[in-house]
Amino acid sequence: MCGIVGYVGNKNACEIIIQGLERLEYRGYDSAGVAVCEKGTFKTVKTVGKVAKLKELVGADGLKGNVGIGHTRWATHGGVTTANAHPHTDEKHMVVLVHNGIIENYKELRDELVAENVHFSSETDTEVAAQLLARLYDGEPVKALCQLFKKCRGAFAFVLVFGDRPNELYCVRKGAPLVVALGNGEAYCASDVPAVVEHADKVIFLNEGEICRLSTSGAEFWDLDGVAHQRRTVSVDVDRAMIDKAGYPHFMLKEINEQGSVLRRALFGRTASDLIDLSGEWGITPEKAKTFKRMDLVACGTSFYAATVAQRVLEKYLKVDIRVDIASEYRYRPLRAGGDTIAVFVSQSGETLDTLEALRHVKELGAYTVAATNAPNSSIAREVDDVIRLNAGIEIGVAATKTFTAQMAVLILAGLYLAKLRGELPGADEKRLAEAMKDLPYKVEQTLLLKDVVRSLARKFGAARDFLFLGRGVSYPVAMEGALKLKEISYVHAEAYAAGEMKHGPIALLDEELPVVVVAPADELLEKTLSNVEETRARKAPVIIVTTENVPDVNDVSGTIKVPMTEAELTPFLTVLPLQIFAYESALLRGCDIDQPRNLAKSVTVE
Ligand code: F6R
Repeated sequence: MCGIVGYVGNKNACEIIIQGLERLEYRGYDSAGVAVCEKGTFKTVKTVGKVAKLKELVGADGLKGNVGIGHTRWATHGGVTTANAHPHTDEKHMVVLVHNGIIENYKELRDELVAENVHFSSETDTEVAAQLLARLYDGEPVKALCQLFKKCRGAFAFVLVFGDRPNELYCVRKGAPLVVALGNGEAYCASDVPAVVEHADKVIFLNEGEICRLSTSGAEFWDLDGVAHQRRTVSVDVDRAMIDKAGYPHFMLKEINEQGSVLRRALFGRTASDLIDLSGEWGITPEKAKTFKRMDLVACGTSFYAATVAQRVLEKYLKVDIRVDIASEYRYRPLRAGGDTIAVFVSQSGETLDTLEALRHVKELGAYTVAATNAPNSSIAREVDDVIRLNAGIEIGVAATKTFTAQMAVLILAGLYLAKLRGELPGADEKRLAEAMKDLPYKVEQTLLLKDVVRSLARKFGAARDFLFLGRGVSYPVAMEGALKLKEISYVHAEAYAAGEMKHGPIALLDEELPVVVVAPADELLEKTLSNVEETRARKAPVIIVTTENVPDVNDVSGTIKVPMTEAELTPFLTVLPLQIFAYESALLRGCDIDQPRNLAKSVTVE
């Protein structure tokens, strides 16, 4: 949450920073600001609203200097006001600072400063850091930053400038990501790679507890004891096409349409000759695999639903106790996990704080940990024993779509591979599932062709204020994902229930005004789900069925969407697609900001 960009070099800093902030806007977009050094003095422009508004304010001429920092905010401490927007400074303008994360003990630090007659001009924890740093600073930046670091609790990243050293940027990382990129006589830093990828393809991901100074001579690094060390750059393989809308009106629509190729990449090298084989990337031995008695799948939001699909699929093959949990719940539970547990953390961003803290919690208990992530350099990826990559390409739309598909694919493949190492996966099932998975990318593309049918249903129900989503087995998490997509981008209330639960309460809501979306592909639970459809129709609620081509038409429903047939376990890869499109079309009809829904951010680094 929050995006940071910094630049020092010989180009116009403001232009580079604003362009970088536009690339990071998915991290937060309620206010934005930039500070640029002009003739030795930092000029700051900030505003409530998006980066586009900041760009307008800065004006066609821009700020003129060659050193600067910028920020796009997702408010935590302090409301969405210009005063609370970053950059922040101290009373004497000795420090100009931007921040991503939370300083947990900011109140205590602020009270101490107030007692020393320091005056604050915002409600933020960030200003506390700026004011405190200015007081700690006696001309030795690294010493002051080490002291600041030790005084602040929480997870944060700072980028800042000292007023008497206007040609140097300082970066500090604790728990929130920062990446540094070097050019010829110039240096960049940012919260994420898309902000710098146009300028450099070699970067350095700051480590936890690292301080970095950027100047026209390059980058220097220190640890928290002020001891200097060297760092090497690493290549980043970001496909620049991924950060462009490529003619689509929204990133979300582009990313929905990429899902066929995303699946091809997720399967590549993992399903050769109808065998499921992850040995090329996952060094786990059969002996180790056989030690597990328990598997915990832990995630938030859409990633949690992908994990739930995987749990429903894998429990048939993998003979361990498979549990799935929401990270923010898992981390505070008295777990019985231990050395016999494989704990899998599912996070497209790899930075979700709830998931990271859950990982730390179970690591202390001795579990073997794995991350399924789209960000192999992320905090979660760095702290686990093994990483399985989603290879989905950067996802920019705040609502996750293609990463959901990639997550389901890698979790199912990894789980089946584990079952195979343990001798629990019958060869016929391995072949059947590997073959069916290889056909999925094409079937995904076929399903995406149903967009017109889905659009007309979204129009038909454009006035509905609530929706109910139902599904059983693997289709229950699909229903949950469909409801989440609808509410987060179109702001329409949508609830998902396991279809069998409807009669235990939600049935009381049913009437002509409540459309019910039922995910009911051909599987062993179809008949039961169709009985729930009957119960729904009997209460006059309009029904939309998402099913497979081999299921006969159900009478008297308001709409039927038929996706291609596949193995029952794999239907979520297809049934989720109409639900993503339905949410997209509904949001479009309502004029919502699809790629940047209100109050949300792509990378949730607060608890
Ligand atoms: C919804 C969505 C969120 C994320 C959740 C976890 O569209 O994107 O629910 O799935 O915030 O994020 P990651 O996967 O980055 O840990």
